Formats: sequence, structure tokens, C-alpha cells
Amino acid sequence: MNLIENLKWRYAVKAYSNIKVAEEKVDQILEAINLSASSCGLQSYRVFVVSNPEIQNKLGADSFNGQIRSCSHLLVFAAFTDMTSTYIDDYIAMTENQRGLDAGALSGFRNGLHSYFGAIDTEQKALWATKQAYIALGTALIAAAELKVDATPIEGFSTSVIDEVLGLKEKGLHSAVILALGYRDSEKDYMAAMKKVRLPVKEMVTKIY
Ligand SMILES: Cc1cc2nc3c(=O)[nH]c(=O)nc-3n(C[C@H](O)[C@H](O)[C@H](O)COP(=O)(O)O)c2cc1C
Repeated sequence: MNLIENLKWRYAVKAYSNIKVAEEKVDQILEAINLSASSCGLQSYRVFVVSNPEIQNKLGADSFNGQIRSCSHLLVFAAFTDMTSTYIDDYIAMTENQRGLDAGALSGFRNGLHSYFGAIDTEQKALWATKQAYIALGTALIAAAELKVDATPIEGFSTSVIDEVLGLKEKGLHSAVILALGYRDSEKDYMAAMKKVRLPVKEMVTKIY
């Protein structure tokens, strides 16, 4: 059970060493993110990867999470603020193309998406997109653990700072959640030797067979 062992190994790191994560491992985590499930397959978020001390300092302004500044790579999960008709049409065309279907073969699906997203307001669309970004965060956490790369999921950041520094608003995006990647500094990290605290599985899960 390597998966479970690796998930027991991971924890939300508080102090990072200055060792950089190899680009090949970062790319595997990014590919895992891209393989995440998403509602209707629309992948309604984008991921920004920052590995630049100057920019990380700016992104970490107003945050108590020093990991933003000290990690090797910072992943920003930026969710769509809208789901436009053009985006839906492009996604349908891409699906038809990648599956070798005739243009228009998926028009029923396309019309369903148009009417669904036409009926909900922008706030609901932004919330829906944010939920998709969190699924990607979960994938990234598992992928990082499998690669023995440390990670910290982070909600404690200033969305206005991150949106401003990365120019997200102009791109139709907003920061949803971020993920620090790197290698733990076991001596400096007060959490490194702490026991993982979880409910008994039986309390979490109800099996109905
Ligand atoms: C969405 C989300 C946001 C989090 N935000 C922070 C944060 O801002 N700073 C931090 O140090 N840890 C953060 N954490 C880490 C949690 O505190 C941690 O996952 C939880 O205490 C369980 O511990 P473990 O992940 O170390 O096993 C966050 C976790 C999640 C899933």
C-alpha cells in the first residue's frame, strides 16, 4: 500500500528548506492536475507556477504563511470568474476534434451547457469554478506525496494581492487556493515530528451495502 504510506508521510509543511524540486517532478504534478476530473470536463481554472523569490515575496505580502516565500515552487489555482459561450463552444470543438467526431456531433451536449450556464449568475459560476479548482488541489496533493515532494495547501493568503500581482482579473480569473511545493526543513518545522491526527475511518465512513 504505497499510496496510503505516502499519504501518511505527507503533512502540511510549515518550514521549507532551500532545496529546489526538480522540474521533472513539478511537471508530473502539473500533468496529474491536468488529468483531474472536472464538472462537465470544462477544466474551469488555470494553474500558475511561480518559482521566483522576488515574485513569491510579493505574493506572500499580507500573509502569515511564510511558505509562500520560502517554498521551491508555488502553484496558484486560479478559477474562472465566468463560463462564457465562446469557451463552451471551444471546449466542445476540442472534444469533437480529440475524439475524431464530426463537427456538430456534440451539439446536444453543447446546447445543454449553454442553457445550464445561461441560467445561473456570475457569482454562482465563479463558485462552481472554484470548487473545480479544489479538486485539482486534491490531485496535486496526492501526486506530490507519491513523488515524495512536500506540499502545503494554503487558503491563508490575500486574494487581492495575488490577483493583482498575477494580473488575474484581466485574464477572467481569480485566485481560489494555492499550493506550496518543496522539501521540509525537519529541524525548523514544529509540525515535522507531530503525529498525524485523523478520525477513525469508521467514524468518517458509513458503508451501505
Ligand atoms: C483548503 C486548505 C487550506 C489550508 N490552508 C492552510 C494555510 O493557510 N496554512 C497552513 O499552514 N496550512 C493550511 N492547510 C493545511 C491544514 O491545516 C492541514 O491539511 C490539516 O491540519 C491536516 O493536517 P495534515 O495535512 O498536515 O495532515 C490548509 C489545508 C487545506 C485543505
